[in-house]
Amino acid sequence: MEEKVIEKMIEAAIGQMRFSYAPYSDFKVGAALLTKDGTLYTGCNIENAAYTPTNCAERTAFFKAVSEGVREFRAICIAGGKGGVLTEYAAPCGVCRQVMMEFCDPDAFRIILAVSKEQYEIFTLRELLPKGFGPQNLEVKKE
Ligand code: THU
Repeated sequence: MEEKVIEKMIEAAIGQMRFSYAPYSDFKVGAALLTKDGTLYTGCNIENAAYTPTNCAERTAFFKAVSEGVREFRAICIAGGKGGVLTEYAAPCGVCRQVMMEFCDPDAFRIILAVSKEQYEIFTLRELLPKGFGPQNLEVKKE
């Protein structure tokens, strides 16, 4: 991936942390999802007093894009930390990895975990969700 695009995504993900609604965990997360045509969809985590309705930053970004008819993605950048302080990588939870599996090619889709514009690591979805279950598993196989 091009350095400039990565930088823009990291900036957007970190910028989204300020919209995080996390009164229960105080763990603020931001995400920036890059579509195949170069658009960025952002997201933050949105918690709930009943806990389970909580939506992660990654899924917020995916659902914003899909709800606008966009289904083709290149990469997502995630940044997050307790109290909004970035000290280590915030890896996507299992549910978010599964949502990525629905819309993304596991070998092509990139997941950028970032602490700053200087400190980040890039993984494929396959690396973070080996042997994932996806839409292809439900396709009827011809004999
Ligand atoms: N969270 C995210 O938004 N994304 C992640 O990658 C990890 C976890 C949120 C969910 C919850 O609001 C808080 O972080 C603590 O789990």
